[in-house]
Amino acid sequence: MTNSVEYQSDIRSQYERDGWFLSPHVLAEDLIDRVRARIDDLSAQDRPEVVYEEGTRTVRAIHGCHLFDDLCRRLVRLPMLLGLAEELLGEPAYVYQFKVNMKQSREGAAWPWHQDYAFWYREDGMASDKAVNIAVHLDEVHEKNGPLCVIPRSQHLGLLDKEPNGAGGDWHKHVSADLEYTVPDEIAESLARELGTEHATGPTGSLYAFHPTIVHSSSNNLSDDRRALLLVTYNAVSNAPKDLKRPEFLVSRDSTPLTVAATNSL
Ligand code: SIN
Ligand code: MN
Repeated sequence: MTNSVEYQSDIRSQYERDGWFLSPHVLAEDLIDRVRARIDDLSAQDRPEVVYEEGTRTVRAIHGCHLFDDLCRRLVRLPMLLGLAEELLGEPAYVYQFKVNMKQSREGAAWPWHQDYAFWYREDGMASDKAVNIAVHLDEVHEKNGPLCVIPRSQHLGLLDKEPNGAGGDWHKHVSADLEYTVPDEIAESLARELGTEHATGPTGSLYAFHPTIVHSSSNNLSDDRRALLLVTYNAVSNAPKDLKRPEFLVSRDSTPLTVAATNSL
């Protein structure tokens, strides 16, 4: 049996070295079925948290569901999510962002090369990158439906974005295929040659963690299979920014430390 102290230090050193960590655990099928059904319901509603692909009524993403939906509020406290985030951060955490990127079959558009921390530092004034993204596959993710692609170890290089792609302040450019803060293709491609790339593929219920400063992207969904990816960003309570301007569904205001639920069921 794995010694849990050894396991924790192992996943932490892997995460600190590579900037991402694919968990050997998978969330139960019935739990994922319930979350998927709820997200399908919520994203069909006409509400400000729902974002569409440019010029269409195709849902690209839904944000901040943990603030208004009880199932999602409970989901973010599960040991496999919050417990993992706390192990990686080494301190109490709260939810900074919650989103589901839907990447609909054939229509779901790409995410260019970027680093999440560029948005949180430049838009929200987050002091350090002591936060972590926990990603959960709500659908099976394979090579053709637009998996997240990371450049392992690139988080050690700091922020690499150059010219902002606009005037700043318009949050739509933080969630669209036309992102405000990107890593120029020539830099990302040269890093990819040097450090390699890895695609986060796996069955429904798979989960992984990735670092706020890791360079990552994902391609258009070229397949008939939807790729819904749930992303919860946990921030260390000590790192909570003040004076936030972006809508609350993009950046949570409540930095009270969360307590981990007793079990991985909802
Ligand atoms: C994606 O949903 O493929 C992109 C997620 C991210 O950039 O954080
Ligand atoms: Mn990102």
